[in-house]
Amino acid sequence: MTTSELTFYSGTKDKKVKMLSRGDVLDPLIAKFGERFRTYRSEWEKAGLGEGYLPEFPLFLDVEPEYKCNLRCVTCPHQDATKSPQYIKDRMSPEIFRKICEEGKRYGLPAISVSNNNEGLMEKYLTDYIEIAAENGVMDIFVGTNATLLTPELSEKLLTTSLTRLLVSIDAATPETYSIVRKSDKFELVVNNTRNFIEFRNRQGKSLPLVRVAMVQTSLNLHEAEQFTEMWTDVADIISLQRYIPFLGDSNVEDYLIPRGREKSDFKVCSPLWQRMTIRANGDVIACCHLANKLKVGNVLETSIHEIWHGEEMAYLRKTHLAGDYAKIPICKSCID
Ligand SMILES: C[S@@+](CC[C@H](N)C(=O)[O-])C[C@H]1O[C@@H](n2cnc3c(N)ncnc32)[C@H](O)[C@@H]1O
Repeated sequence: MTTSELTFYSGTKDKKVKMLSRGDVLDPLIAKFGERFRTYRSEWEKAGLGEGYLPEFPLFLDVEPEYKCNLRCVTCPHQDATKSPQYIKDRMSPEIFRKICEEGKRYGLPAISVSNNNEGLMEKYLTDYIEIAAENGVMDIFVGTNATLLTPELSEKLLTTSLTRLLVSIDAATPETYSIVRKSDKFELVVNNTRNFIEFRNRQGKSLPLVRVAMVQTSLNLHEAEQFTEMWTDVADIISLQRYIPFLGDSNVEDYLIPRGREKSDFKVCSPLWQRMTIRANGDVIACCHLANKLKVGNVLETSIHEIWHGEEMAYLRKTHLAGDYAKIPICKSCID
């Protein structure tokens, strides 16, 4: 297949994320979960229109069991490791994770990430978290990874779990660019690990987990976007080209990673405010998926997720966005502009 034959699978209305696939990529999930999955996807689309439709409970929870990564990518706060303002040393226990999923079950939570912005494959309880989510009726279960630790053994193990999506960040089509963006010499290893995972899965006659490869487009790698897409066209299930978001969340800081002349989006409402929330390792709930984790709206150790979702802070953020006043909130300004 050529890249021009890829279809637009999904993306955000503000064009921050553009995902391509070779056809009806969600078919295996529809086959597994039936009508419930279709309903979830249509709720997701409806909530993402930014027209005020609010589901009873988040459709997706991004859960961070621990704040840890083995790479120091230039686009990410992890580059400063424990000195990053986002760093917290807490670890979420499987009991707290279970409590989150049990509340999710009461509202039919459809989707979860069990890694958020940490390195998913460094998580000691990873397979437990995946199964706790599945036991509580979560359909779509995501893990995000840089694939450096995706060994054949771990791949085989993950293929026995209820994981439905493996999101692999690569950000480059050559080892040279990879080493600049991801500050690592493991490009070949990452590509091979990802290819092997897909091959093992296919050899077992499985179509899940879906594998998505991603490039966050910056001034450093934009010239390789086409090559990246070509390289994965016949291999990955989903190719995701993502808009770089200044990770400090501060619009007053000049950011050399923003590609020169980058087109601005004319859609100025943040869809995730109606779709999802993030839960950090210390229980803090963050209103959105921004890497800076600045918009704390509660803590699950003190308040239920449902209450936080319908609480004053979330309501204020949504109202401000609907009124077109996102720029009043500095982190929203830096993300949207
Ligand atoms: C922070 S990473 C952490 C998960 C995993 N360790 C990885 O490498 O993908 C989570 C996602 O955020 C994306 N990302 C990183 N920095 C970003 C930025 N500044 N703007 C937008 N997306 C970013 C990554 O490409 C990945 O898809």
